[in-house]
Amino acid sequence: MHLSNRSQQLQPSATMKISAQAKQMVADGIDVINLSIGEPDFETPDNIKQAAIAAINDGHASFYTPAAGLPQLRAAIADRTAADYQLTGLTGKNVAVTTGAKMALYSVFQTILDPGDEVLLPEPYWVSYAEQIKLAGGVPVTIPVGDSFKVTPADLEAKLTDKTRAFLLNSPENPTGVIYDQAELQTLKDWTDAHDLMVVTDDIYGQLTYNGASFTSIAQLTDALDPNIIIISGASKTYSMTGWRMGYVVADAAW
Ligand SMILES: Cc1ncc(COP(=O)(O)O)c(C=O)c1O
Repeated sequence: MHLSNRSQQLQPSATMKISAQAKQMVADGIDVINLSIGEPDFETPDNIKQAAIAAINDGHASFYTPAAGLPQLRAAIADRTAADYQLTGLTGKNVAVTTGAKMALYSVFQTILDPGDEVLLPEPYWVSYAEQIKLAGGVPVTIPVGDSFKVTPADLEAKLTDKTRAFLLNSPENPTGVIYDQAELQTLKDWTDAHDLMVVTDDIYGQLTYNGASFTSIAQLTDALDPNIIIISGASKTYSMTGWRMGYVVADAAW
């Protein structure tokens, strides 16, 4: 079989590989704690399951939906995001529903990157970012973070070139668990604003905070969603729906 140069450049997902191995070890009766993939340890809540079963029985799942998702769902996500993030002016037109946040990220990179465009990526990072950026013809520019596990404007500045297009921010971060506070986010935003860069903020773990920590998104620093900020999120982690594949993009561009 002929494989394209593009696909030959890709690395398999290390976390998926380790997870499959851990699941096999459990199946073999070995006592392991699987810390590989970000998967909640509870079942999807029953009200969600029952609503989905009712929707299927009522014929809502049989036919194509609009490509960006059901209008009612898009509107509900817009309302929820507006309330959680205190953002004005969001409607369903700002939302696209995707098959998981992974697909949301893939679609965003395909949409915003031209060949050779660079994306600043604090390292360590969730493994799929780099491969998705490469698939879109972009270049992941990794930035090793220090002991604080947090990237600073000075770190970003050191990797800035005239090809830099975007900064990928993930907070709470996978794998370190780091959460940026509002003041840190403001310094990062001031820097990206100064260079007119896009920020892709992967907020998928925003509802999973512990020990009194609280989550603020870089998208919350303005009253209305900044046109240079793209929010990625989804149902996978918050509602333990990793198998359902439901993610979304919230962006200024209406489609
Ligand atoms: C940081 C991060 N973003 C996105 C995803 C993808 O989420 P989904 O299952 O909704 O595709 C994951 C999954 O582990 C993740 O850890």
